[in-house]
Amino acid sequence: MKRARIIGTGSYLPAKVLTNFDLEKMVDTSNEWISTRTGIDERRIAADDEMTSDLALIAARNAMDMAGVKAEDIDLIVVGTITGDYPWPSTACIVQDKLGAINAGAWDVSAACSGFVYALSSAVQFINGGNAKRALVIGAEIFSRIIDWEDRNTCILFGDGAGAVVLEAQEGDAGVLSTHLKADGSFWELLYQPGFGAVHPASVSGIEQRLPFLRMAGNEVFKVAVRSMYEVANEALTANDMTTADLAMLFPHQANRRILDAVKKRLKLTDEQMFINVDKCGNTSGASIPIALDEANRKGMLKEGDIIMFDAFGGGFTWGSCLVRW
Ligand code: UT7
Repeated sequence: MKRARIIGTGSYLPAKVLTNFDLEKMVDTSNEWISTRTGIDERRIAADDEMTSDLALIAARNAMDMAGVKAEDIDLIVVGTITGDYPWPSTACIVQDKLGAINAGAWDVSAACSGFVYALSSAVQFINGGNAKRALVIGAEIFSRIIDWEDRNTCILFGDGAGAVVLEAQEGDAGVLSTHLKADGSFWELLYQPGFGAVHPASVSGIEQRLPFLRMAGNEVFKVAVRSMYEVANEALTANDMTTADLAMLFPHQANRRILDAVKKRLKLTDEQMFINVDKCGNTSGASIPIALDEANRKGMLKEGDIIMFDAFGGGFTWGSCLVRW
């Protein structure tokens, strides 16, 4: 049976670093508070002339170079993002054009911080079903453009960036073993962007009410995130007759160090089994897992046959896991 195998990874972080000390000058906060409550020391911020598609494009090219795949060989481009260049068309279409991927269908997936896991799962179904040979899956976000920089509850958390993988249908045991996607829309109001959609179309009063900025009830999100990431990771292991002892590395969505520590503790993972880079990147939403994967891959931390897992949670609420044999 052919499986969707990850044959290349890539990522891109904008050059500008925003530290906790920089944030101390912007809102009523402290390095000590941010560091203790979130584990974040710094995050990257896109330059004014950098768009989400630009970040996505660099990550994609890096992944394609590693895979040795040309743009015309790609059948699908799926981008997990909620901070695309425009409300529409999709950022995937803009990336498709910039790459010259003339044979690819392209679309965005809106699943907030679960965007990459949802996008990857979609692409895997096409490959498993025999309808695509090669897919480019990207997580790309510029949250700095939807953050209320006067809200200390949220502005300290997020960063910009992009990560990508190239999938190829290959014979053998390696590749994506399973995907489990979940949602509970009853929680939508705990994490969302009120304007400007059909409920609140563009208006001057909407800007005055700060509707285009992200809103989050952090504490409540925190509790559901830990439980959901734990449960969906377990579900993936059970479905594959595995236990946490089989896991070489977990790549969780990098939201907050305390969430990651709680998930690690519940799953009884060792430090070596958990990849964490939230300290340097902050929460890059749908981009966080492929950025982390690319960092681990380029550092030589993954070897053939390793069992790894992606475990995401985000607005919607959405969550999900992908189990992969490297
Ligand atoms: O990507 C998926 C979606 N997002 C998440 O996963 C985020 C999940 N939530 C979290 O990471 C945490 O809830 C936060 C980091 C957002 C907040 O941490 P917390 O430990 O839950 O703090 P809190 O919201 O309970 O706030 C505690 C106090 C409050 O003051 P009072 O009311 O106790 O006087 C806040 O006003 O800390 C205050 N506070 C701050 N103080 C200094 C909130 N933000 C800040 C800040 N600097 N930046």
